[in-house]
Amino acid sequence: MTSGLSEKAFVMFQEYIEDQCGIAIGKEKAYLIESRLTKLLVEKKLDSFEELYQLLSSNKDPKLAEKMIDAITTNETLWFRDKTPWQVLEDELMPSYIETIRSTGRKIRIWSAAASSGQEAYSTIMCIDQYLKSHFIKDVTLHDFEIIGTDISGPILEIAKAGRYDPISIMRGLDPKYKELYFNNEGRVWIIKDEYKQHVTFKRFNLQHSFHGMGKFDVVFCRYVMIYFSQQFKKEMSKKLSDTLRQNGVLFIGNSEIFPDYKEHFEMKQYQKGVYYQVKE
Ligand SMILES: C[S@@+](CC[C@H](N)C(=O)[O-])C[C@H]1O[C@@H](n2cnc3c(N)ncnc32)[C@H](O)[C@@H]1O
Repeated sequence: MTSGLSEKAFVMFQEYIEDQCGIAIGKEKAYLIESRLTKLLVEKKLDSFEELYQLLSSNKDPKLAEKMIDAITTNETLWFRDKTPWQVLEDELMPSYIETIRSTGRKIRIWSAAASSGQEAYSTIMCIDQYLKSHFIKDVTLHDFEIIGTDISGPILEIAKAGRYDPISIMRGLDPKYKELYFNNEGRVWIIKDEYKQHVTFKRFNLQHSFHGMGKFDVVFCRYVMIYFSQQFKKEMSKKLSDTLRQNGVLFIGNSEIFPDYKEHFEMKQYQKGVYYQVKE
């Protein structure tokens, strides 16, 4: 164990974290608990992780659980992360979505299931907008698409909802041309324009919960989150994700992620240098 975190405290937090958000932290990553929760010890003026755990489990401080989840989750994200999803969306999916909208009038629903500060969801609306403009499509508009972003962390979702980005975040992965097209600039802050923001909604959602209330989706982005989950939870996720997808629905996970349990519910499709997963019939 680490110097400040006893074996007993590690096990208590390990179980608490897995129970609250599905994140499985092995012994070799005990330092993560210590480094990320130390600021809560300081804030609460406590001397030990045991005391922090007691406060947490006493429910005397309801905001503490939320702060813990925020501290323990990794919110790393960027614009247009990995090439594959955007290429697949443009080349493979958009042509059929345009046909579906034209023939049925229904909306295409896309879920960014671990949305962090919103880059994935807003990249999606930018990608769709670019497609419609570059193909001179006028009868189908952004109103025919519904993008939902969810995350377990309340504070990170506040950034997503505001759509406000600092000079460093705005640069990461975003073509400078898009910065001018899709954002307004207020001093050092870049704010997504309302005409694009209105098509994206964000809400708090824990992936451990049932997906039934979310409805059916054409696409789910569930990227760089399952890597933190246990094997058992990944397996459950595979089933829940397949159930929430429509016929021919598509799942994107991160390019560098391994998804060993896909075979029962998904078919892996190769696209250029990457892969995506299509739900089985
Ligand atoms: C590394 S970020 C990935 C962001 C984005 N999908 C991307 O690929 O750029 C992982 C996100 O998953 C969220 N998360 C972790 N556990 C979760 C859970 N049980 N339910 C919902 N979101 C969760 C974290 O709060 C974090 O914002």
